[in-house]
Amino acid sequence: MPKPLIVANWKMNGSLEGLKDFFEKLDLREYAEAVVLPPAVYIRDCISAIGNRALAVGIQNIWTEDAGAFTGEISAKMARDIGAYWALVGHSERRQLQKESDELVKQKLECSLKAGMNVIVCVGETLEERLSGQAESVVSKQLKKVLAIDLTKIQNEVVIAYEPIWAIGSGESATLEEVKEMHAFIRNVLLGVLGTLGANVRILYGGSVTAENSADLIKQDHVNGLLVGGASLKADSFSLILNALD
Ligand code: PGA
Repeated sequence: MPKPLIVANWKMNGSLEGLKDFFEKLDLREYAEAVVLPPAVYIRDCISAIGNRALAVGIQNIWTEDAGAFTGEISAKMARDIGAYWALVGHSERRQLQKESDELVKQKLECSLKAGMNVIVCVGETLEERLSGQAESVVSKQLKKVLAIDLTKIQNEVVIAYEPIWAIGSGESATLEEVKEMHAFIRNVLLGVLGTLGANVRILYGGSVTAENSADLIKQDHVNGLLVGGASLKADSFSLILNALD
């Protein structure tokens, strides 16, 4: 397994001034592989602010076609063209607010891979689903539907992010026990769906990751990285998360 992957999901936050300050202050060391997902309008500015430091930039959402009459959308091919190497698909905010289905997420995954990008696929259950004992079946269904493509000839990386919806932005992450259990379960589903390839897929945890809980989370079996929202907006807290293994 390569280094842990730590991803900053800025969502619809940030500014031109703020991003320059962020990258100036960011303490980048060698413990993790880092990716920042800014709002798409700031991708180029992030790339210039990063310079030659080891930090990749990605896009939070893409459309399912390379080009065409899709007002307001951005294709994976375009994002790749301007230097974004990662695409995030299936985030629960898009599944809920934009009503994105597993089928659409699958198409976005395929399109991003075709464009030569690495892809982070988000899965996760609602609180109601967890309380009624359906967390595993919901996550397994999402994985099976989205990963129903041939990944054997893919050169790029597909990463899974487990983000329980109730933990996102709530200030309360899943417990270490819950994370451990679900990540082991996801690993088994991946082995079932992808065969031996499933052993090498990095599984990230996301949902109220902070500078305080990141070290414990990253030490759990089958936690191969973190997807960070709120705590990735400030250089000091994101630096602490990046260096949690220090
Ligand atoms: P959070 O968001 O860290 O603010 O909970 C995580 C995410 O939605 O990716």
